[in-house]
Amino acid sequence: MTIAATDRVLSVTLRIARFTPKPERAGRRRGGSPFGSKSPFGGSNAGARSNRVRGRRWTQDYTVSAHASDSVLDCLLSVKREQDPSLAFRYSCGHGMCGSDAVAINGTPTLLCTAKIRDWVKPDSPEFANEDGFRPTGEPLDSSDRAIDLDALDPDTPLVIELAALPGFPTRRDLIADIDPMLDQIRRLKPYLQASGELKTAPNGKVDAFEYLQNPEQLKRYELLSNCIACGVCEGSCPVYAGGEAFVGPAAMILSSRFLNDSRDGAGRERLEALMGPDGSAACQSVRACSMHCPKGIDVGEELWQTIQKVDAAKAALQ
Ligand code: SF4
Ligand code: FES
Repeated sequence: MTIAATDRVLSVTLRIARFTPKPERAGRRRGGSPFGSKSPFGGSNAGARSNRVRGRRWTQDYTVSAHASDSVLDCLLSVKREQDPSLAFRYSCGHGMCGSDAVAINGTPTLLCTAKIRDWVKPDSPEFANEDGFRPTGEPLDSSDRAIDLDALDPDTPLVIELAALPGFPTRRDLIADIDPMLDQIRRLKPYLQASGELKTAPNGKVDAFEYLQNPEQLKRYELLSNCIACGVCEGSCPVYAGGEAFVGPAAMILSSRFLNDSRDGAGRERLEALMGPDGSAACQSVRACSMHCPKGIDVGEELWQTIQKVDAAKAALQ
């Protein structure tokens, strides 16, 4: 009987970029924007953090036995339980729903819980070095493009998966990125429905929910965008975001677009105005790396392009 590659037990080395921050001295704040508390683009930079947090950085290997169908998160949990309780990573739902476990796997931003060993494992050899730099514009990455043929490999080939914290953000510890800058930017663009009219009430005094129903066409315009889990994978892929001080970022723009596309929302003009600054839609360079790895299948670059056009039209109307 042959065992399918997906069921095989493999010996895999997790090569982890580790980081322990240096404790800050009381009364001294390290990092932050080189522009201090005032952003050159207007507004405050009080929430900005440096990507150059000081501390100890090193690479550590952990070897685990794993089924090819296990997730990378499963392997990290086994390392934490059985080898090194000091290893730090973040997760919550374990099912691709919460977005808390975005990291770089073999240099690619993605979620730990949905990443399968069979899709990411590679021979531990320089020939299989990670790609770096810009990724080509195009369709979302198909995992079959990335996976190696486990059946064709010599069973003694050493296998490795490389893990690092999500790029584009300061690292807090090991695989935990500080995503507060992204969350601040999302909050700034008010990611909630601002209904223009008064709530319609029925004769019995209750809110008439039927007044707020959406027909399938209206729903289609924002349904996919409402699946965004604010994981930051698109921001970690974006070469312009890198720290978020000069660009509000794809995740914040996607969540703003979700409400721009909602016929019930009455704050469209304010939403477009909020994106008119130099760190708004004008900062997007349409590289479209953001579209490559979204775990929710959102074509982030295309959605951003549609919003950029709306912002440009609103700007032209103001002149
Ligand atoms: S658009 Fe996709 S990749 Fe970006 S934050 Fe939302 S779910 Fe994550
Ligand atoms: S743990 Fe929630 S998305 Fe991965």
